[in-house]
Amino acid sequence: MRNNAKWLICQMLVAMMVTGQYVQAQTSTPMPQIIQKGSHHTLEVDGKPFFMFGGQCGNSSNWPSMLPGVWDTMKTMHANTLEIPIYWEEVEPVQGSFDFSSVQRILDQARENDMRLILLWFATWKNGSNHYMPEWMKKDSKKYYNVTSIKGTPVDSPSPHAKPAMEADAKAFRKFMAYLKEKDQQHTVIMVQVENEPGTWGSVRDYGREAQKLFAQQVPSEVFTPSVCKELGVDKNAKGSWAQVFGERADEYFHVWHVAKYINYVAQAGKEVNPLPLFVNVALRDPLTNPSADNYESGGATDNVISLWKAAAPCIDMVSPDIYLRGDEAILKVIDLYARKDNALMVPETGGANSKYLYKVIEKGIGFSPFGVDKRRQALGCATRDALSYEYELLNPMNRELAQWAAEGRIHTVIEPEDHSEQHILLGQWEATITFGTGRGNNHPQGAEHAANGKAMIIQLSDNEFLGIGTNCRFTFNTAGKNEGRAWQYLKVKEGKWENGEFKMSRILNGDETDWGGPQVGEKPNMILFTLVAR
Ligand code: DGJ
Repeated sequence: MRNNAKWLICQMLVAMMVTGQYVQAQTSTPMPQIIQKGSHHTLEVDGKPFFMFGGQCGNSSNWPSMLPGVWDTMKTMHANTLEIPIYWEEVEPVQGSFDFSSVQRILDQARENDMRLILLWFATWKNGSNHYMPEWMKKDSKKYYNVTSIKGTPVDSPSPHAKPAMEADAKAFRKFMAYLKEKDQQHTVIMVQVENEPGTWGSVRDYGREAQKLFAQQVPSEVFTPSVCKELGVDKNAKGSWAQVFGERADEYFHVWHVAKYINYVAQAGKEVNPLPLFVNVALRDPLTNPSADNYESGGATDNVISLWKAAAPCIDMVSPDIYLRGDEAILKVIDLYARKDNALMVPETGGANSKYLYKVIEKGIGFSPFGVDKRRQALGCATRDALSYEYELLNPMNRELAQWAAEGRIHTVIEPEDHSEQHILLGQWEATITFGTGRGNNHPQGAEHAANGKAMIIQLSDNEFLGIGTNCRFTFNTAGKNEGRAWQYLKVKEGKWENGEFKMSRILNGDETDWGGPQVGEKPNMILFTLVAR
């Protein structure tokens, strides 16, 4: 039975956040929140839609010696939000004695640099280990114990059954969230990540004494929500131990349940004092092959256990994929799996090469962020801008409009498939055709090898007016729907950018720029406003 009063409070807070009914009573600006309409989610910041064009710095970059380079990078990237860790070991160096100077420093500097923040609470779990626990905990490994493997050997991963660690984390997280509530009334911080890639590498679950006891007990009835039963293929009235109910995947589901419960306890402690949106990032598994849990980090919200994770952790608003996979099939699958009616899609980490998928995330999600941006830029050399910075430069000025248009279903995106084949988008009485590459007419110069890195986004502004944005692609249109079969032409084609809430034209495209299969965009993204007329 869900008879725990705290749980109910948390459920209400989450429900109010999700449905947008949360009214901020005391702070001067509205609380950031995730609004759900139908199956789409929108992040609202300052009471208005906002798409997070983010960058995450390196793990050890929240230090005075590193921050100038971080800000420099974020400016060069044209990002609007920095994701940056807060280290538990630094915040609570002595048990019960808290030092939030690192939090205040980052708040001050973000405001000076006109940047929003997503703070990452590096605490019990960091990539499945306990490395950010304060020293006083690391020195007491009996009390704050780790996972024991099936062979009885120690595993470098905190046990979700270690209650003193859970209590300590919840206490510190509550203090941290209370600090933000007091010192960040303008909501420079728009979300908080609780833990980092929680779960365990090297053992599917804990096989220590407490874990073994719980594993033999009956599966709690609260596990059997309708969506969990559907996801895991069990009956809602199932009874028995974890092994009896879940068979060969019992170890994994048991670990997932207890990791998520632990994190929910921490999240609830923070949310009670400051109801900012909270999320957990996920080290993914291969979404195409249903591998067994010894092939990935067990205990995280991998695609096979999203409902189970959510049932255990109602105070976590979102589970968010860290996308380091390669290949269209796997990445598009992950985007679909995490953009669910009950889960807003946000990509808190991705590899630099994955900017091909940015437009898809704009269409379906609320934010996108490559990882290690300051480190990558140092490696490239400080003067170098990467491809994503041109995307952000063009798109960030319209981040609020993009979030609004995505909610209205006006944004349609395509990516260049491996076979470079043209893609079609139906837009009422028009059909757009997107071809890829940079050759004239035939889009790929004969025989040329070409990476499939094109992408396009079309925003339907009205019946006959479309904003086309893309790289390495060409846009053309034809009549469809009730205009099918009619001749058509461009009324006007304008190249430009978004400024102060409107399209600002830099030139009209005509003649060679529109006649040979439609206007073309190269390596650097461009924005084109099309007005069409049927004849
Ligand atoms: C994923 C983690 O969440 C990050 O903190 C960082 O360790 C990266 N992996 C490194 O690639």
